Amino acid sequence: MTGRRSAELFSRACRVIPGGVDSPVRAFGSVGRDPYFVASAEGAYVTDTDGNRYLDYVQSWGASILGHAHEKVVEAVRAAAGRGTTYGAPTEDEVRLAETIVEAVPGCEMIRLVSSGTEAAMTSVRLARGATGRDRVVKFAGCYHGHSDALLAAGGSGVATLGLSGSAGVPRGAVADTVVAPYNIVPELDDRVACVIVEPAAANMGLVPADPGFLEGLRAGCDTAGALLVFDEVITGFRLGRDGASGRCGVRPDLWCFGKVIGGGLPLAAVGGSRALMEMLAPLGPVYQAGTLSGNPLATAAGLAVLEEMTDDAYAVLCGRARRLADGLSAAIGGAGVAVQVPLVEPLIGLYFGSDPVRDYDGARASAGRGDYSRFFGAMLERGIALAPSPYEVSFPSLAHGSSEIERTVEAAAEAAAEMVERR
Ligand SMILES: Cc1ncc(COP(=O)(O)O)c(C=O)c1O
Repeated sequence: MTGRRSAELFSRACRVIPGGVDSPVRAFGSVGRDPYFVASAEGAYVTDTDGNRYLDYVQSWGASILGHAHEKVVEAVRAAAGRGTTYGAPTEDEVRLAETIVEAVPGCEMIRLVSSGTEAAMTSVRLARGATGRDRVVKFAGCYHGHSDALLAAGGSGVATLGLSGSAGVPRGAVADTVVAPYNIVPELDDRVACVIVEPAAANMGLVPADPGFLEGLRAGCDTAGALLVFDEVITGFRLGRDGASGRCGVRPDLWCFGKVIGGGLPLAAVGGSRALMEMLAPLGPVYQAGTLSGNPLATAAGLAVLEEMTDDAYAVLCGRARRLADGLSAAIGGAGVAVQVPLVEPLIGLYFGSDPVRDYDGARASAGRGDYSRFFGAMLERGIALAPSPYEVSFPSLAHGSSEIERTVEAAAEAAAEMVERR
């Protein structure tokens, strides 16, 4: 149950902040309750304003891969803040972060730092349009690329959670050149297409892995049509491994969007690509893009501290634990007699109730429509486990989620599933 202090804060928030939250999914509407307000967080846990401690699988929607308030990150941010929080002039850490990304991701030769994944995706589309002289953008239903006008159509994440097909306030003209295709089917492309933008593992409609051949098919289709391929790796970048989804699957896009992990929990994201494409950005080229706080010194310090910790060994540990958790959840929930799918892509974990494997947005919606997720979410929260408050999101175990946290989660899942069966 939401505690008294969280309830008071939510009621105050609703008077001055639309829906009481600064990002829609935080409102907990789709799981039928009010949000807890966080007072502090450490490692795998968050503590709310009523003193309830939750084992947290949201981890700022994937921004915290080391867990909350990791000492090296806190120290780096503290030290950076002491040198000034923003200058509006270039810094060495921006160079170091761009070098780190370029070194880790094969084919990505240059990086422009921005402040959010939305900006990264928006810039990638503008760059693709500028480079090709074409207007059309192909995206996939259930993929989310932030909240810029052209990319909201059939968006996953909060757009899916709220059951919207797009957004009011987006002029027809802004989406006239956006084509939405079903995930996991290679669409027909022609010489009007500037770019195809895709999440290489779709993690905003639950978790839908790319079918074998899908990403390869997109690469081949883009090459034939003269279109650019954009991998939105805001979630998968530096989450699946240092080389992200493109490194894992061996398909090289023309442009990458990064975010979340690379900012170490501070507002930072990036667009990257080949030198030839990236040099089309201002001040060198005709495609304009800018930002007062781009490459902010606190965010670059946090990002560098995180990427230093995330060695190949660290990814192996994280992925191993995630596999144990996914297997455990599947056995615990299934064992209680509740049909469930627990897709896993490296350390990303999805949860779909129902017996049909999910390959696209229609499948994700069919699973969410059963209503089981919100019952499971509530039963887990009562046991101190905070999952994402929407069936269209994924779980983000962090390096701070150790064996005892995984065991506790699996035990709670068995009880929660048994409770769901009892109450049917
Ligand atoms: C794949 C993907 N792209 C873009 C975004 C937008 O990022 P931001 O919320 O930082 O604007 C998100 C956010 O969740 C995302 O998951």
